[in-house]
Amino acid sequence: MAAAILVTTLVTYSVSAASSVADDAYPSPFIPTLTPCELDDGIRLSPVRKEVYDDGHIFDISHQYHPDMPSWGSDDGLGQFLRLPASMKNGSLANNSEMKMPTHTGTHVDAPGHVYDHYFDAGFDVDTLDLRVLNGPALLVDVPRDKNITAEVMKSLHIPRGVRRVLFRTLNTDRRLMWKKQFDTSYVGFMKDGAQWLKDNTDIQLVGIDYLSVAAYDDLIPSHLVFLESREIILVEGLKLEDIEAGIYNVHCLPLRLLGAEGSPIRCILIK
Ligand SMILES: *[C@@H]1O[C@H](CO)[C@@H](O)[C@H](O)[C@H]1NC(C)=O
Ligand SMILES: *[C@@H]1O[C@H](CO)[C@@H](O)[C@H](O)[C@H]1NC(C)=O
Ligand SMILES: *[C@@H]1O[C@H](CO)[C@@H](O)[C@H](O)[C@H]1NC(C)=O
Repeated sequence: MAAAILVTTLVTYSVSAASSVADDAYPSPFIPTLTPCELDDGIRLSPVRKEVYDDGHIFDISHQYHPDMPSWGSDDGLGQFLRLPASMKNGSLANNSEMKMPTHTGTHVDAPGHVYDHYFDAGFDVDTLDLRVLNGPALLVDVPRDKNITAEVMKSLHIPRGVRRVLFRTLNTDRRLMWKKQFDTSYVGFMKDGAQWLKDNTDIQLVGIDYLSVAAYDDLIPSHLVFLESREIILVEGLKLEDIEAGIYNVHCLPLRLLGAEGSPIRCILIK
């Protein structure tokens, strides 16, 4: 995919991310401070960052990884997770970055080993997740904004049998929680009875949500236990679901093949 286009207009690069909004949120997409790249004839090169491609045919529903993105349990966000041990500026032939961050950062997937020690020991890691579940027709639904996802809420959504992948858009999206660096325990997620209802009464195998956990903070472990026990349900968390109409899409999610890891960053897109 073409990563850069020529722009003839002067581009301002030093956009301050934090100052343009009142609270601690940063804008979408985050615009890093960069040094303009100027060609001999004065033409400036600037990278293109897209959330939507082809007039709404493809939506990027993954979040950018960024030091100010929220990180589980942290007030200070993810922090500096990239470093450049070899750089051209100090004599290397190329720039080579290194990254270090929790595997459950940003848009990510949970494997059964996340909350089951015996599954962890037996190797049910992110490399064992079924790509057929992670890719295919999916429903994007809005859930009521005044509750966590209980059995009653699940029932009220009337998700038909046969639907295998559902992305739940919640108050978290309206509150822009994934754009705030301070971790917020008041996010919306599944209560245990909601998870149980989904498991018992639907054919859903991919559960997607718009903050760092599918499980509400108050039912954190119980809801995860319900979802992951059968090893048939895959949890995709931290999705970016702003500005997309509810409805049916094809979802494509691809985790990294991290052997032994119970979580992985995941790239997800929706195709109409
Ligand atoms: C080169 O620069 C990086 C930071 O960009 C630094 O971490 C590294 O130690 C430097 N290497 C040498 C050989 O100076
Ligand atoms: C390499 O990294 C340096 C920072 O040390 C940066 O200024 C430069 O633009 C990078 N070069 C390339 C080709 O990415
Ligand atoms: C959802 O549950 C959390 C605790 O896990 C709570 O702080 C929050 O207020 C609840 N949200 C709604 C909309 O009821």
